[in-house]
Amino acid sequence: MSDPNAGKRAAAFAAADLVPNGSTIGFGTGSTFAFVLERLHHRMQQGLKVRGVATSQATTDLCGKLGIPVLALDEVTHLDLAIDGADEVDPKKNLIKGGGGAHLRERLVAITARELVVIVDESKLVPVLGKAFLLPVEVVPFGCKHSQRRVEATGCTATVRERGGKTFVTDNGNLVLDCRYPAGIPDPAALQRTLDAVPGVVDHGLFVGMAGRIVVGDAHGKARILP
Ligand code: A5P
Repeated sequence: MSDPNAGKRAAAFAAADLVPNGSTIGFGTGSTFAFVLERLHHRMQQGLKVRGVATSQATTDLCGKLGIPVLALDEVTHLDLAIDGADEVDPKKNLIKGGGGAHLRERLVAITARELVVIVDESKLVPVLGKAFLLPVEVVPFGCKHSQRRVEATGCTATVRERGGKTFVTDNGNLVLDCRYPAGIPDPAALQRTLDAVPGVVDHGLFVGMAGRIVVGDAHGKARILP
């Protein structure tokens, strides 16, 4: 039977092999990124020295289990590289992130890095963002119904995210609105500007012009790097 994670693993392993000895890396969040840590752990057993800044408590916990050193973002002056997954990637390398609700920390880590290397399987490559995946928008809990209305005024239907029957709360203590734009998001830069100006919105999952190399893994376990 074919491995449903072959593409994710291939992309993650190829990106982990880009990590130079002695470097400090931005550690992403999610099921694809977990394979990066698996590979780094293996490389550390062969002598690699690496440390990272984690974008979520989940990644911090996983690093702890694998014995991979983690620093706080404020302890570093720069990051050599950030590696992270994405939910969708368009032909201009714009991204939707935040399926796991970690996008605020992911952005803060990514902009501190010299390059954001994105790891995805082929299913994440789309012609237009937001047609299949809902855009996550993080809002502060105070007055969140008003923020929801303001976000919906940008042309979407917004639903407060729940997990396991409970309201989902981010690592930053905020809520996530999952936003359906009926025609998708043909102009991510314009929507980013609009959402950035909505009071109550802390961040959203649109990463425009931030991605460096995109490493794509296929179902046969092969990885390629998008130019
Ligand atoms: C976390 O909030 C996200 O931005 C993830 O990086 C993204 O959802 C990709 O996750 P998977 O690798 O689990 O698909």
